[in-house]
Amino acid sequence: MIGRLLSSSRVIRRTLVLGAVAALSMGLAMAEIPRANAAADPPGTTLGVAAALSGRYFGTAINASKLGDTAYTTITGREFDMVTPENEMTIDATEPWQGQFVFTNADRVVDWAVRNGKRVRGHALLWHSGQPQWLLTLSGAALRQAMTDHINGVMAHYKGKIYAWDVVNEAFADGSGARRNSNFQRTGDDWIEAAFRTARAADPAAKLCYNDYAIESWTSAKTQAVYTMVKDFTSRGVPIDCVGFQAHLSSGSDPYPGDFRTTLQNFAALGVDVQITELDVPGAPAATYAAVVGDCLAVSRCTGVTVWGVRDPDSWRSGDTPLLFDGDGDKKPAYTAVLNALNAAVPGASPSPTPPGGSCTATLLPGAKWPARYNLGVTVTGSDHWVVTMTLSRTQSVVATWNVRARWDSARNVLTARPGGHGGSWGVTIKHHGRPALPTVSCRPA
Ligand code: XIL
Repeated sequence: MIGRLLSSSRVIRRTLVLGAVAALSMGLAMAEIPRANAAADPPGTTLGVAAALSGRYFGTAINASKLGDTAYTTITGREFDMVTPENEMTIDATEPWQGQFVFTNADRVVDWAVRNGKRVRGHALLWHSGQPQWLLTLSGAALRQAMTDHINGVMAHYKGKIYAWDVVNEAFADGSGARRNSNFQRTGDDWIEAAFRTARAADPAAKLCYNDYAIESWTSAKTQAVYTMVKDFTSRGVPIDCVGFQAHLSSGSDPYPGDFRTTLQNFAALGVDVQITELDVPGAPAATYAAVVGDCLAVSRCTGVTVWGVRDPDSWRSGDTPLLFDGDGDKKPAYTAVLNALNAAVPGASPSPTPPGGSCTATLLPGAKWPARYNLGVTVTGSDHWVVTMTLSRTQSVVATWNVRARWDSARNVLTARPGGHGGSWGVTIKHHGRPALPTVSCRPA
């Protein structure tokens, strides 16, 4: 009996310690909540915290093969609150033989992210590159079916764990408004919308993105072609939530365009979120990095920025030293420029708030789990003025919230949450008695 009591108190102590670690790794310590006056807060001291203060995320691509490198995981854990698996979710990695799914490396990245309180961008379901041999031998109806099966297989495995999926990556040709000539394209023009419809049904909670490079300049034919497609999709009700701008900038083929902000604004005006998804710039000029991040901050529906790697030697184009940390893990001038740009956007309200009215959606993102409690991220989209009602089962209770103004009614088991000056991303820690079921949630504009 005594032994049982001792061991359960050890469990409680361990849970408390883990809870504290989780609070820190969420980027914003729970001790900070509730916070009525965001303007009085010190600015963010890491990229993730600084971005969160304006309701955005700051992410990086990570590589499963580097998760044993402590310097790498230390920087990633400290600075970023979103991760994208660099190569682990491409088709050759996840379905190397038809119908046989392999998630070993992708799971390593996702598990690391969940353990460390990070969200995940899924990349990518259909891409002309990174295809296994078996897929390249198919055509027509058989290929279409294989595309659908692939989306369903991967999305089912990660259901509820992915913030946004790049459903289709790089479907347009360079230098023209034409579709890229690929095996997917040869199954018919409607392959992209078919992919988005399949993806929506497979995981209704994930945001669904179209992602491409060299679509930053508003005047380029490729940008216009993607814009026309997204406009067509939104007008016909094809489910699309976001457009990712890779922003692999280079002075030759894809220089930083002065009208990138216009492009982001015009896409956002179609009713989709926009995100910068794979940012890297040769030589990492501080001014260019600050300008790109500033463009995102100027557009309320620009929900976050991801850089394509942690340190320069981790980059797919390491010779260009295009990232924010050098090989020693030291911060480069571009890092400071980005951090300052993010902090200049504090306090957290989006730069151009949407007016009251309309509709809003609250999406739940399960986070870290412990024996008696779990973290739940909540993302509210569609309105900047909202009230979210979260109803827990009778065996659960709320023990902490962050980035939100919240009231917990223990008699009714209902949490009522309103914006806390940090945009639409917030979270809650829920205590449960062995039944970690998700609460029900609803959102109304206020
Ligand atoms: C790159 C990876 O960084 C490399 O490691 C890999 O060899 C090739 O792909 N656009 C994309 C990314 O969407 O998936 C690519 O990533 C870079 C270009």
